[in-house]
Amino acid sequence: MSAQIVAAGPESAGLLAALHAKAFDGGEIWDADAFETLLAGPGVDAIIAVRGEAPLGFILMRTIADEAEMLTLAVLPSARRSGIGRALVEAGLQASQERGAARAFLEVAVNNQAAIALYRASGWGKAGHRARYYRDGSDALVLSRLL
Ligand SMILES: CC(C)(COP(=O)(O)OP(=O)(O)OC[C@H]1O[C@@H](n2cnc3c(N)ncnc32)[C@H](O)[C@@H]1OP(=O)(O)O)[C@@H](O)C(=O)NCCC(=O)NCCS
Repeated sequence: MSAQIVAAGPESAGLLAALHAKAFDGGEIWDADAFETLLAGPGVDAIIAVRGEAPLGFILMRTIADEAEMLTLAVLPSARRSGIGRALVEAGLQASQERGAARAFLEVAVNNQAAIALYRASGWGKAGHRARYYRDGSDALVLSRLL
């Protein structure tokens, strides 16, 4: 993978917003203020993948008691299919586990084949289905994984 995985603090809100916009390409926009608010909240871990000086992607987790939620995961299009997404998921789950999480959840759009393939390959299973969950009207799958 040849990228470093590093923890990020509230000072990274602008960077996370920029990575998110590039990775989701016109999808749901989370601006720097949204990230700043999230990062200031309890139980939140942001982890960035960096190659040299260049940030390539990140994961955002929130852990409350023994439950973790993956809030978002993003890898730049130019850096995909080199194991960064998988490494970020493992690092995010580890951070949540260190906070006491025993189980993790996430929501993913039913038509997001790349993300669903990544989660299936990393041991996540279906835990539910939310109809019309996203702003564009698409459904979400709820996936979970024991830690
Ligand atoms: C989903 C995403 C994070 C994957 O990141 P990535 O760095 O490319 O993922 P990895 O290289 O670690 O892939 C790990 C495995 O997932 C699966 N996978 C990933 N992308 C895939 C694709 N486009 N098609 C099929 N399988 C895919 C494969 O099994 C892959 O292993 P392999 O490359 O050895 O075959 C990235 O595509 C992305 O940022 N997408 C836009 C944002 C998004 O959808 N985030 C998730 C929201 S829930």
